[in-house]
Amino acid sequence: MTGQRPTAEPLVLGIESSCDETGVGLVRGTTLLADAVATSVDEHARFGGVVPEVASRAHLEAMAPTLERAWAQAGVRPTDVDAVAVTRGPGLAGALTVGVGAAKALALALGVPLYGVNHLAAHVAVDVLEHGPLPRPTAALLVSGGHTSLLLVRDITCDVEQLGTTIDDAAGEAFDKVARVLGLPFPGGPQIDRTAAAGDPQAIRFPRGLTAPHDMREHRYDWSFSGLKTAVARWVERRLAAGQDVPVADVAASFQEAVADVLTRKAVLACREHGVDHLVMGGGAVANSRLRSLAAERCREAGIDLRIPRRDLCTDNGAMVAALGAQVVAAGHAPSPLDLSVDSSLPVTSIVA
Ligand code: KG4
Ligand code: ZN
Repeated sequence: MTGQRPTAEPLVLGIESSCDETGVGLVRGTTLLADAVATSVDEHARFGGVVPEVASRAHLEAMAPTLERAWAQAGVRPTDVDAVAVTRGPGLAGALTVGVGAAKALALALGVPLYGVNHLAAHVAVDVLEHGPLPRPTAALLVSGGHTSLLLVRDITCDVEQLGTTIDDAAGEAFDKVARVLGLPFPGGPQIDRTAAAGDPQAIRFPRGLTAPHDMREHRYDWSFSGLKTAVARWVERRLAAGQDVPVADVAASFQEAVADVLTRKAVLACREHGVDHLVMGGGAVANSRLRSLAAERCREAGIDLRIPRRDLCTDNGAMVAALGAQVVAAGHAPSPLDLSVDSSLPVTSIVA
């Protein structure tokens, strides 16, 4: 670090509203100044999943108070902001619209540039706040509620190649669905993680999708979690039909082991086969303790340098958007037009609008 440089770097505001978290972050360079998050998760719990309309209204209510908290945390005023970054996709269209609307209003009022950025790239970019600039190239394993991807990142602001993805459910989605089968409340990921701590991960051998030799030819770096989810449901049904108790902790631990196993196995394989010795992980499901520990173990064995953001930076937040925004600004990319729209199915390779 050179003494004075950070103050010369632009102050970037990041706004996130793609799902059920309203996030506002403030970042200067790679320094995190504020990370304020409001969640509407409790309002969705009784429906067993995120209700888009409820999420949009919650963002509308939470946006201004969350911005206020961010200014206070960072000790800055809105007029100190040099650029505004906002998630424009992928995510729920109505929810994204609230964040993009707020970002446009701020950019216009403050007379600063607006950058509409990709939520998935932001999950990877956030790691700079903890571990400094990303190595180039690096592989990235992205595991969130709606996406599971293996990426080759040459430049997180403009050059990301998708090596593999799920061919059906996202890993986070599988966590949520298996939790429901086990009678655990929404959102299921953290519940499974907690419940699994008391279970035996070797108790039940659940299937590892797309790892058979012929699948490894056609879907070398892809995953499938729908068969695993069904296998867990069948296993539980059989126990209940036989009048036996369901060992919830063992099922949770064995399921979690199967997910962590296939995710880390293919990520390490892709690193080896692409001659990349850095792996960054990001996304809500990367908060999972077994996924973190198995990744650490396998990367150590393979000589891969692993970077994982701390848990609250893995789940959705505004700091990740500000972190990506700061890198986009530093790289000199053109700002987005003020008629920027949202894109609920924005591909991971499209980073700045
Ligand atoms: O990235 P994220 O916050 O939102 C999306 O962009 O989708 O990811 C949310 C997902 C949910 O499926 C949630 O169950 C999962 O991340 N998740 C976890 C854990 N914490 C959150 N999954 C497994 N273990 C956890 N500890
Ligand atoms: Zn996310």
